[in-house]
Amino acid sequence: MAAEAKMALALLAQQNGLHPAGWIKAGGPTDCANDIDYHVEMARLAERGKFDLFFVADTPAARTDNLGAWSRYTPYMNCFEPITLLSALAGATSRIGLGGTASTSFYEPYNIARLYASLDHLSHGRGAWNVVTSGNNYAARNFGEDRLPPHARRYARAKEFVEVVKALWDTYDDDAIVYDREEGVYFDPAKFHVLDHQGEFFKMHSALNIARCPQGQPVIIQAGASDAGKELAAETAEVVFNSDDELPAAKAYYDDVKGRAAKFGRTPADIRVLAGFTPMIADSRWEAEDKYRELQELIHPLVGKVRVSSDLEADVSDLDPDQPIPLDRIPQSANLHTRYFEQIVDMIKNQKLTLRQLWQRYERGNKRILGTATDVADTMEEWFAAGACDGFMMIFPTLPDGLETFVAKVVPELQRRGLYKLDYEGTTLREHLGLKRPESRYARAALSRAGGAR
Ligand SMILES: Cc1cc2nc3c(=O)[nH]c(=O)nc-3n(C[C@H](O)[C@H](O)[C@H](O)COP(=O)(O)O)c2cc1C
Repeated sequence: MAAEAKMALALLAQQNGLHPAGWIKAGGPTDCANDIDYHVEMARLAERGKFDLFFVADTPAARTDNLGAWSRYTPYMNCFEPITLLSALAGATSRIGLGGTASTSFYEPYNIARLYASLDHLSHGRGAWNVVTSGNNYAARNFGEDRLPPHARRYARAKEFVEVVKALWDTYDDDAIVYDREEGVYFDPAKFHVLDHQGEFFKMHSALNIARCPQGQPVIIQAGASDAGKELAAETAEVVFNSDDELPAAKAYYDDVKGRAAKFGRTPADIRVLAGFTPMIADSRWEAEDKYRELQELIHPLVGKVRVSSDLEADVSDLDPDQPIPLDRIPQSANLHTRYFEQIVDMIKNQKLTLRQLWQRYERGNKRILGTATDVADTMEEWFAAGACDGFMMIFPTLPDGLETFVAKVVPELQRRGLYKLDYEGTTLREHLGLKRPESRYARAALSRAGGAR
């Protein structure tokens, strides 16, 4: 029988941390945004903690208005492009998976197929692509549009986009490069496949100019929360990030996404769902709560309002922070991030908060745990044992100190409980996560033809 499944761990690696005021309080270098040494240290620290994945989120845009707020809330305004950063980290690490976001709304499939195939080779099989459709109009304006296309249209493009990328990753068979010096033949033309694709969004007569990846194909990540997002995840994703902050909702999401897999010829084991966890770890619960409260109070009102406005998809900048948001300010539906929108609307309607209380409590989905290392390990164990996730996307309010404490105190506790691996067992990200290496569609077709002929 297979050994007891261990939980997977990913790190959302964002400069000085994910909290809007994290950069003010964090103990790391004051300006780490463009400091490769800082990122190398963080990736190596996560690797010492045996993390499966170092993940870099992205949106291809700086904010161009409301600079009074954005100059106080930094992550979108100065950051490395993910694939470039991950390529640099490939040489500085040896085991941890390297995943990053790229938007199907603004790239072309050929670019993505090529970039991530290169990352997979550079890292000897540790590359992963987070498929997003993007959730802000700033990005649209960098690419000739005034606003994002409607949600359904973005997902229709994403679906076809991923299909084409995966087909391109199968251009070369695993054994196509023969390097036959005697015959002067570099690759076997019978093992090189040109894609002819004509769909709603893309027309391509195309082949990728890089050999098949060490992982067969890089790992595909997705984090859609809408129905269309979950469909795309069930059909294509191998890692799915969930952002529910309560166990029953997370369990429902887990069962929902895995339950949809069968209709795409997949099994629940083909998908690893990671729950977003935001821990603030201290020697006592009270100390952790104090530390967190201090951070919350550092959120400048301009930043608080811009965060609420972005996810509510409605401008609240004129409102009194100490009054509730009037219900007539709530839009009918979301076009950007469905889950964040639903959560914030739910808080407005059901928790009767003032605007200030709202921005201080709203966590963009993830489960917040304020407590000791044991408290954090207990909650992780509870979610994992309940089948609400296969592991966790760790989102530290401040970095690198949050990660340092986690690696020093929580990782050994999870290992002691037998919930987490003592060391890496393989070298590729697929091996860490127990994911199959995908067979090339052409090899599969040839096999089934051979089988049919018998
Ligand atoms: C851990 C995590 C990381 C994410 N990273 C990104 C990102 O880098 N870029 C992005 O545009 N969206 C990111 N998202 C948002 C989702 O990909 C998705 O766009 C959002 O949940 C809305 O999904 P929906 O359109 O299906 O509602 C992330 C979500 C989670 C939970």
